[in-house]
Amino acid sequence: MKFIEVMEKRHSSRDFKKDEVSEDTLREIVKIAGMSPSWENSQPWNVYIATGETLETIRETWIAENDKKIKGSADMNPGHRTNFSERGQKNMADFMDAIGKFDDDEDLENFNHVQHILFNSPAVVYLTLPKNYTKWSVYDLGGFGMGLMLAATDLGVDSIPAYELVKYPYILRDNLPIPEDEDIIMGIALGYESDEHINEYESPRLDLDEILKIN
Ligand SMILES: Cc1cc2nc3c(=O)[nH]c(=O)nc-3n(C[C@H](O)[C@H](O)[C@H](O)COP(=O)(O)O)c2cc1C
Repeated sequence: MKFIEVMEKRHSSRDFKKDEVSEDTLREIVKIAGMSPSWENSQPWNVYIATGETLETIRETWIAENDKKIKGSADMNPGHRTNFSERGQKNMADFMDAIGKFDDDEDLENFNHVQHILFNSPAVVYLTLPKNYTKWSVYDLGGFGMGLMLAATDLGVDSIPAYELVKYPYILRDNLPIPEDEDIIMGIALGYESDEHINEYESPRLDLDEILKIN
């Protein structure tokens, strides 16, 4: 696939088929992501992937925790919405409004449901950093995550990066060999997207001139 096709094809899938992603494919995706640049080649990332029984145990516990309406407590706290820029807050509000209506369900019931069941995904990648990371390592990890999703797309694997996948870090630590001295920063679900309507949702982008100034 040409690079532009990979960029255009990648989008967030919010419901996956049961079909597993092979271990060879998972390894290939992470190997390609590892080509990402980082501050002085620090390569601060660690990668944990839950599949099969491990992921089913995480999913069951996750659903139970959500049913109890336990608030998320991710290692990297997103803080209040007002911590985001004014433009960011507007785009976020537009997104929540649009995806709720798109799914014919103005109260976001289905959108919330797919989050709680970890999008039905057969594999979830968790990206961690050693505690006390600098903001530069978060920058590096973001690039790594994007490389990982683009590699997945190129290999025919769909994905979604989601805060919802890391909001109960204690459940992840109970089921994966993630040491206490690493923070779980981000989760990316991988799999093959289903025919569910929600997967057709397309997030719009700002016009180029709203984000770019060339002088
Ligand atoms: C840091 C981050 C956190 C996100 N968290 C969620 C989430 O919790 N739930 C969700 O459905 N989508 C989540 N997304 C996906 C975004 O909604 C999506 O990337 C955005 O709307 C652009 O759409 P696209 O990925 O289809 O291009 C997240 C994306 C990023 C980068």
